[in-house]
Amino acid sequence: MPVLQILTYPDDRLRQVSTPVLEFDDALERRIDDLEDTRLSGPGAVGIAAPQLGWFERVIIVDVAGRKKSSSHGHLVLVNPEITEWDGFTMGREGCLSVPDYTGNVVRAERIHLQALDPQGQPLGFDMEGFEARAVQHELDHLDGLLFLDRLVSRRQDLFARKSYK
Ligand code: NI
Repeated sequence: MPVLQILTYPDDRLRQVSTPVLEFDDALERRIDDLEDTRLSGPGAVGIAAPQLGWFERVIIVDVAGRKKSSSHGHLVLVNPEITEWDGFTMGREGCLSVPDYTGNVVRAERIHLQALDPQGQPLGFDMEGFEARAVQHELDHLDGLLFLDRLVSRRQDLFARKSYK
């Protein structure tokens, strides 16, 4: 399966708003496979969003199971995801395959309820918290043309150069 090139900041295409998936067919499954292969080819990313590959449809993959202290629903392929409830807020460090040279402190909701479709078009619903909720909020932002950089309160205080992506 091909590993595709990831768009990186400040590429304007990362600002594009993605459209809902309408067809749940073999072509969608192939593109999801490419998205997953590209996520796994990188340095341990917990998530990826379709527009990071220049595919402007509302598909994200999140898997925080490797984070030992985080609650997790495992490996999730989420089509047309929507957050329907938000609760609390918390500051935490985020990185992004499209912003390889930096990490940043970002405020996110602590708990969310998420609705989405699976790759066959069947409805899914999850209550999420902590790092998994954060990862979903980060990836969902990509679908609306937003990066974590846009959510920093202060670039001077909340943005950090990273020496190596790990
Ligand atoms: Ni990202």
